[in-house]
Amino acid sequence: MAGYKVRAAESGDCEEIIRMIQELAEYEKLSDQVKNTAEGLRRDGFEEPSPLFRCLVAEAEDEQKRAEGPRLVGYALSHYIYSTWEGRSLYLEDLYVMPSYRGKGIGSKLLTATAEMCLSLGCARLQLSVLDWNQPAISFYQSRGGRNLSDEEGWRIIRFLPEDLRRMISKNAERDGDPGLL
Ligand SMILES: CC(C)(COP(=O)(O)OP(=O)(O)OC[C@H]1O[C@@H](n2cnc3c(N)ncnc32)[C@H](O)[C@@H]1OP(=O)(O)O)[C@@H](O)C(=O)NCCC(=O)NCCS
Repeated sequence: MAGYKVRAAESGDCEEIIRMIQELAEYEKLSDQVKNTAEGLRRDGFEEPSPLFRCLVAEAEDEQKRAEGPRLVGYALSHYIYSTWEGRSLYLEDLYVMPSYRGKGIGSKLLTATAEMCLSLGCARLQLSVLDWNQPAISFYQSRGGRNLSDEEGWRIIRFLPEDLRRMISKNAERDGDPGLL
């Protein structure tokens, strides 16, 4: 981890963070799903009265390293979720280190700093999702104590997109004559 420090992201980091978000999505073979922009990150993370996420970044410490490569080489982005069973919790949305900077302890430092933030915010758990083929990341989390709930409890992730929501609402309106709330 020599030569790199982990710090809280600032508004001016959003261009580099969105670049790494795109790189992570490419690694996950889902890059067509990235619709967010640096402006969106800035608004949601730095201009909202209650920011919608917290982000830690790994930054090259000295000028020479910054001249040789990117200033930011990794990030960990998290946000609150709420467990009805245990209360306030933290969700780790993304953890990423650029390929040529992996294996130097930067990912571990980003995860440990997120763990410290999680406890200091009084959260009951740190939760995240990982693709089933991403065995290196699954091993990375499990070797640091993360529990695999898909195996232990059988959870599956369900998502509704706006078109799914609209279809559901209009089907309900057709069936019940219910005009809905909106
Ligand atoms: C997972 C990741 C953040 C780890 O970052 P890192 O800086 O390489 O982590 P560290 O140097 O602290 O530790 C290296 C550990 O990660 C493991 N690892 C996982 N993927 C790796 C990779 N692609 N290259 C090198 N090491 C990797 C190593 O085996 C090592 O494990 P160990 O310490 O338990 O033996 C990084 O590999 C990464 O960005 N991967 C691609 C994106 C990803 O899968 N993110 C998680 C999605 S939820």
